[in-house]
Amino acid sequence: MRGVGKPGALTVRGLTKRFAGVTALAEVDLEVRAGEILAVVGPNGSGKTTLFNVISGFYRPTTGTVVFDGVPLTGKKPDRINQLGLARTFQQAMAFTTGTVRENLEIAQLAHTDDPGWRAELIALCGLTEVAETMCAGLPYGLQRKLGVALGLATRPRLMLLDEPAAGLSDTDADDLAALITSLPQQGVSVACIDHNLPFLLPIADRVVVLDAGRKIFDGAPEEARGSAAVVEAYLGESDA
Ligand SMILES: Nc1ncnc2c1ncn2[C@@H]1O[C@H](COP(=O)(O)OP(=O)(O)O)[C@@H](O)[C@H]1O
Ligand SMILES: [Mg+2]
Repeated sequence: MRGVGKPGALTVRGLTKRFAGVTALAEVDLEVRAGEILAVVGPNGSGKTTLFNVISGFYRPTTGTVVFDGVPLTGKKPDRINQLGLARTFQQAMAFTTGTVRENLEIAQLAHTDDPGWRAELIALCGLTEVAETMCAGLPYGLQRKLGVALGLATRPRLMLLDEPAAGLSDTDADDLAALITSLPQQGVSVACIDHNLPFLLPIADRVVVLDAGRKIFDGAPEEARGSAAVVEAYLGESDA
């Protein structure tokens, strides 16, 4: 796939999000640097999805700022943020009711490009060539998850936020997805990726941020995360991690 441009950079400062009685994010500072793959991990309920919901404009922060390539995103609506070059996927697999893989990608990319050649490259990059003319509703789960990533990429983002993209995937599908994510920076797309599957995520990450109860408790190299006492206590020591 031809590069869409320069990968984007995100700066989050002092981000706090409170729901009634719950502080989902507390004073979080973090960066996604241009061209990197950032892993975001932490126990269930630690604020990972809330972080993505605030960055992508689905929730307003209680306090704090989000800046994407110098442009403040705080207060902007999700579709405007997407136009600025930021795309995200959702933790739940999307439910498609109508249309083929190719038709759904066509619709997703409408506002961003009308280049069918580029769409064909995207379909190949995401491993969807064989099912391009298949109805989405009947797709196996692994292909639905890949389509979710492809739909985000169809909007030609410079930053992609992926929320548990490998959840429920077979090892083979997870390997395919890891290869796809690894290829994104060279396509001009920076990545922030949440996943519980650390053997999937840590090898493809340049850096890892760990959240615990809404606070950032670690920010550094993946190999150092496993040695951090705070991280081990919060998360990595859990028997299922
Ligand atoms: N829309 C919401 N309304 C109320 N509480 C919420 C909402 N979204 C998330 N929360 C709460 O915020 C905390 C963090 O949730 P979430 O960001 O989904 O965690 P994670 O993705 O790390 O599992 C949890 O306590 C959750 O119940
Ligand atoms: Mg979540």
